[in-house]
Amino acid sequence: MLSCRGLRKDYVTERGAVAAVAGIDLEIAAGRYAAIIGRSGSGKSSLMAMIGGLSRPSQGQVTVDGTDIWSLSENALAAFRNKRIGYVFQFASLLPTLRLVDNVALPAMLGGGGRSSATYARATALLGQMGLGEHLDAYPSEVSAGEQRRAVIARALINEPALILADEPTSDLDEQTEIEIMDELLAVNRERGTTLVLVTHNLALAEQAEQIVHIAHGMIVP
Ligand SMILES: Nc1ncnc2c1ncn2[C@@H]1O[C@H](COP(=O)(O)OP(=O)(O)O)[C@@H](O)[C@H]1O
Ligand SMILES: [Mg+2]
Repeated sequence: MLSCRGLRKDYVTERGAVAAVAGIDLEIAAGRYAAIIGRSGSGKSSLMAMIGGLSRPSQGQVTVDGTDIWSLSENALAAFRNKRIGYVFQFASLLPTLRLVDNVALPAMLGGGGRSSATYARATALLGQMGLGEHLDAYPSEVSAGEQRRAVIARALINEPALILADEPTSDLDEQTEIEIMDELLAVNRERGTTLVLVTHNLALAEQAEQIVHIAHGMIVP
């Protein structure tokens, strides 16, 4: 489902070039829950951004669901991201001027569906599944950080992606909320068969994964 070949990311900074990802080959099977672990600065977010079609690799190839994503045109890549990949990042914020239900419906409307009652019915159902049925009309600032993160998960699911990328999605939340949010993500993986790639500092969470990828200095540690 997901394959990386010879993946590299170099950043050019005032202090010279930084090899954030220094040659990664990786296979993750469809439906799997994979955890990426490693110290801060080891290249996890840079890897996730290339896998997610958000940051172009300096070298190498990323195949998601049979598509060599970095060979796509900019428009085709944007459409692919919107349809096939769900993002649950710590800083993947909701649009503050839209209600939760509008935030969740938005990716479906951008995908060409337009504003339809079917889209809003799905957004409502997803928010209900995330325990936010009472907060459909709330604005992001009116709900807690944990509830905002649940809405981000609902938004990630609206187009029924094949892959969910979660980069430290709970590291800013308290322990109980972290457990609840992780339960939601794992339920999506189990019940919908959506492939889940999770970056986490929480080793207990990583140990539950079917595949653990340990990264140090931009490379996979065996
Ligand atoms: N936009 C950027 N410009 C320059 N250097 C960066 C940039 N993003 C990340 N880096 C550097 O690349 C390395 C890996 O960073 P990152 O991928 O964020 O690691 P992690 O997510 O594991 O903490 C670090 O040394 C970081 O300072
Ligand atoms: Mg990071």
